[in-house]
Amino acid sequence: MEFDDCVTIALSKGRIFKETLPLLSHAGIEPADDPETSRKLILDTNRPQVKLVIIRASDVPTYVQYGAADLGVAGKDVLLEHGGEGLYEPLDLRIAKCRLVVAGPKGGRPGKGRLRVATKYVNSARRHFAAQGRQVEIIKLYGSMELAPLVGLSDLIVDLVDTGNTLKANGLVPLEPVCDISSRLVINKASWKMKHRSIKALLAALQGAVTGAGGRDND
Ligand code: ATP
Ligand code: PRP
Repeated sequence: MEFDDCVTIALSKGRIFKETLPLLSHAGIEPADDPETSRKLILDTNRPQVKLVIIRASDVPTYVQYGAADLGVAGKDVLLEHGGEGLYEPLDLRIAKCRLVVAGPKGGRPGKGRLRVATKYVNSARRHFAAQGRQVEIIKLYGSMELAPLVGLSDLIVDLVDTGNTLKANGLVPLEPVCDISSRLVINKASWKMKHRSIKALLAALQGAVTGAGGRDND
């Protein structure tokens, strides 16, 4: 694939970087550095026109919205909180799959009065309980939600679950599903117009990679 334009892709390190690598590789893009060992925040690739920027997972939509990156990979959980303004979300990459759930103490009974719900996912949580007509108090946290019910900060949490090991290790159980989560390719709307040929070719290559991967994991 030839790139007519310079293209910047925003990724977070950890699972999104690791799981996006094979998809990028399918599109002929190989990073020159490993963000786990390099302190660089802008990574070159084997394609002189393609750079990767390494940022916090929850910052990816913001960089792409403002055009600081043309494309990015972000969890649906993060996109639901961001709202998606200025972004196209054309492709489910089917990586970093997990579920957003309401969880609480095993055998715990909802107390009287307004339930308190601790979460990083304030918008999704608010929408979920509002749809059920339940009045709850949302407490915003930035991580380690599982601790909140254990120390009396909240009755419930809304958090991501994959294996369930983290909930189990803290005596919590999933109570209600909120939604299924996977990571999505997001594209800045202006970049899509201005760099159409390059981004369209990259999108098609990633699409092909996802379809191939889907066949292998029996989805
Ligand atoms: P930030 O650094 O912005 O706080 P984070 O620590 O949540 O973000 P990661 O743990 O790398 O970042 O998660 C990135 C994305 O991977 C999440 O937004 C979610 O979509 C998905 N994810 C999170 N936890 C899991 C998990 N246990 N299994 C599978 N996917 C997950
Ligand atoms: C996420 C999430 C849960 C945990 C769920 O956290 O916030 O705490 O993963 O995964 P599990 O159901 O498989 O235990 P984080 O990304 O901080 O944890 P991780 O890096 O250990 O997956």
